[in-house]
Formats: sequence, C-alpha cells, structure tokens
Amino acid sequence: MHSTQRFWRRLAAVAVLACGLAAVSAAEPDTPAFAAAQHFKRGANFGDFLEVPPGQGWRVQHTAKDLALMKAEGFDHVRIPIGWHHYAGPAPDYRLSPVIFAKVDDLVTNALALHLSVLVNIHHFNEFTSRPAENTEKFYAIWRQIAAHYASAPAGLAFELINEPKDAATTELLNPVYAEVIRQIRQTNPRRTIFLGPGRWNSIGELPKLRLPADDQNLIVTVHCYEPFFFTHQGANWAGPEVQSLHGIVFPGPPDKPFVLPPDAKVSQGVRHWIDRYNTLPTEQNPSSPRAFRDLIQQAKVWGEQNHRPMHLGEFGAYTKADQASRARFYGAFRAALDEAGIGWAIWDWKSGFKYWDEAKGEPLPGMRQALFPRHE
Ligand code: BGC
Repeated sequence: MHSTQRFWRRLAAVAVLACGLAAVSAAEPDTPAFAAAQHFKRGANFGDFLEVPPGQGWRVQHTAKDLALMKAEGFDHVRIPIGWHHYAGPAPDYRLSPVIFAKVDDLVTNALALHLSVLVNIHHFNEFTSRPAENTEKFYAIWRQIAAHYASAPAGLAFELINEPKDAATTELLNPVYAEVIRQIRQTNPRRTIFLGPGRWNSIGELPKLRLPADDQNLIVTVHCYEPFFFTHQGANWAGPEVQSLHGIVFPGPPDKPFVLPPDAKVSQGVRHWIDRYNTLPTEQNPSSPRAFRDLIQQAKVWGEQNHRPMHLGEFGAYTKADQASRARFYGAFRAALDEAGIGWAIWDWKSGFKYWDEAKGEPLPGMRQALFPRHE
C-alpha cells in the first residue's frame, strides 16, 4: 500500500477509536451501582409507618395490598423508613427486637415477590444525629444486625445508611463513619447496593463535602429536596411557625390574587421578601416554580457525573394543605426535571400527609397519576 494511503487509513482508524472512546466516557460507568440504579427509578415512600415510635398515634398502616397497588401504578421501588433504634436493646449488643424484623420482613418479602425493589433505612435516629460520638457504636451495631438478617436476600433489596443526617451529624463527621459502617456491612453483604447521602437533611449543597470509599462500586448517592419549601410545607406544624402562616400558596406563582399574610403572622423579612416575589414575578422567575429546584437537580446530576456515582432523589413532595391542582403540577414538574437529569426518585409519600394514593376512594389523588406516569395516560 502506498505510504500516503497507509497514513490516511491510520488516521481514519485513530479517529474511529477516538470517537468510540468519547462515546464510552460519556456513557454511564459499568459498575454494579449503575446497574442497580436501573431498578430504583420511580419510587414512593411508605411514610409515617415503621419509623413512628411505638405507641404514637400518627402511624399509617401499610400492607401487601399497598405494594400491589403501587406496582400497578407503575412504581418500581418502595422506600421504607424504619425506626430500628426504637427496638434496640441496651449496650453493648443493642439487640434488635424480632418484632421490628417481622414487620419489615413482611413488607420486604411481599415487595420482592412483586418485583418491586426495596430500600430500607434508619429514619429519625435523632439520638445519633444529635450526639453522634455517644451513639456511633449503636449505629454500627444496628447495621451489623440488619445486614446479617438480610445477608441472603435478593439483590432487589438495598440498604440506606441513614435518613437526613442533621445537627451534629455533619457530612464531614459522617465521612469516616460511613466508611466504617460500609466495611462492616460488606463482611456479610459483599454485593448489596448501599445508598447514602450528605448531611443537612441530605442537602444537594452538601455533596461537595461527601467522601466515599473509592474502592466500593456499589454505592448510590441519595439526596432530598423540598423546594419550594414555602409551597411544599405550607401549613405544616412540624416545620416551624413561619410556614404555618402560609395557606393557599399555589404552584406555579404568581397567584391570580396577591397572597396577603394574616395581620398577626410572625414571619421574618426573608418570608416577606419571598411573598413579594411570589406575588409579582412571572412564572419563569417566580420562587414558587420549577426554578426553585431545577438548578439543584442539575447540581446533583453534575456531581454524580464528576464522581462516577449514580444519584437518587429519595424524598420530594408537597403536603396536602396545598391545593390539589397545584400539588399535581408540582409533582409533574419535579418528576420531569428528575427524569430529564436521569436521576431516580421516590416521592414523599404513598398515602400519608403528602399522599399520592387516596385510600378512601381507592385511586390516586386527582392529577397525580398523570404527573408521575404521563405515558400511561
Ligand atoms: C419526614 C416526614 C416529613 C417529611 C416532610 C420526612 O423526612 O420523615 O415526617 O413529613 O420529611 O417534611
């Protein structure tokens, strides 16, 4: 072959190779975590059930029937918040009561039988998040027991280390604790998918501080987002006095008639400023619009790409004090932004205060199915 011809052939081969490499590097890494993330794309939280301290009245029973209904709606996974710490005995063993395992086993077994993936976590472990130094051994002991109990469970079951770490349980403090609890879980569950998230209630803004064990390729990073908070938490009595003065905030803003605070409302300048902007700005700039979460979702996506980890958004939602048409628009817009970013999600929640499912009527609340599963309509 003529040497010029050889040169062009080689150049063409190099170009083909370079394009191929570019395609590979843009694609998702081929890790167990990315394979698992395919089974955690559309989920719902069984909120206000197994995380509720025993004897408290806000428990909402969830059964195998709910799992079947979820599956029929099109969800592919269920996130089960669990208050294991309420069922732990004294130090040094912190032995978990068979009572809680029986309740969790029932849901896990039924979910897996329906081919729903399952995420179990530790939820509202406030003694740990307030005083981590005193409670880290308990945290490890709880996970050693959960891990041993589910060591032979199918791959559809995943563990989430802790829900919304806050207060003293900062991202920096948790980095080495996460590494150690993962090491302990791996002794019985070498191939289990593990979800974990940053501090400040799993804030997206904390991601840059999160450090993961580099050699573990079966970790999914989970974050939460309840923006726009003054819409999603209006009237919520557990979210502080300010949001309790807010009723009738719509999504998206601006409202037809300006929102007026009750004369006795005790709210900060920040809230007043938010209401001014909500009343006056066009939807694209309004604080009660997709603008409140779009950039955050983008940040989570970019962090995942840069760190080669799949991302999951384990809680978003709006309290039922908001009007239902706004709620449906909100869930639809949030879901669309996550799907566009390629981030799996779980709504808060299935049938409690932020519900999707209307148990009395035996159907989703108006607009919710269209919001989450638009292609099914
Ligand atoms: C809490 C729920 C609460 C929800 C929205 C969840 O993390 O567990 O109790 O309703 O956030 O505030």
